[in-house]
Amino acid sequence: MSAEQCFTLDGRRVPFQDGQTLMAAALDAGVYIPHLCFNPEFAPHGSCRVCLVQVNGRVQAACTTPAAAGLTVQSEIEELREMRRGILQMLFVEGNHVCPACEKSGACQLQAVAYYVGMQTPHYKHFYPRRPVDASHPEAVIDFNRCILCELCVRASRDVDGKNVFAVQGRGIQARLVVNTPSGQLGATPFSIHDKAAQVCPTGTILTKHRGYETPIGQRLYDRKPISVVGDVAQLPESRGGRRHD
Ligand code: FES
Repeated sequence: MSAEQCFTLDGRRVPFQDGQTLMAAALDAGVYIPHLCFNPEFAPHGSCRVCLVQVNGRVQAACTTPAAAGLTVQSEIEELREMRRGILQMLFVEGNHVCPACEKSGACQLQAVAYYVGMQTPHYKHFYPRRPVDASHPEAVIDFNRCILCELCVRASRDVDGKNVFAVQGRGIQARLVVNTPSGQLGATPFSIHDKAAQVCPTGTILTKHRGYETPIGQRLYDRKPISVVGDVAQLPESRGGRRHD
């Protein structure tokens, strides 16, 4: 039997299997590294950069960096917390995230990660982009104002649901989530609230209609415990099957 392979993460030994990333191994070991575009059910995407860690002194994304024996990884240091806060602040000003008026408040990974990294203010000037809200589907509403382009819904719809309902169009600051129909309306697609794509959004972009306040704000998942303790809302058993995440 081969000896257990380990790297150290903030001084703690973390075992890993061949082919695992730092993120996957850390989560398996019960160690939280902040992330938004990562979901263990999908191949790493490496786009949000919230999971930055220092690997032997060099800053890299934990979700895309392969684990290797003997690596010294640091995550909970002030230098990285500051970088993560900056990334979160940019995500907040690039869209229109109005937490007190969002029905996902308290069950939103973006909000929970912002709290976790100690973001107090947006810091940067708001872009206030003009983006639509699509309520054309009988079961779901899409508020494009809250999209952070993690592409989890794109990947879920393409790779799990086999429907290709979503895509990202444009590049750079022009990049935006679109619905893959001539009309661009969700109601014209075979999208269902039971689809995987309906369950993976880390923000309040894809919402179930008619159930927004079944759990009052203040009593929701991340109102009760921090994300570092409860993990991703999309990974919880109660979030499967189109049920709400709160
Ligand atoms: Fe690693 Fe988004 S979670 S880049």
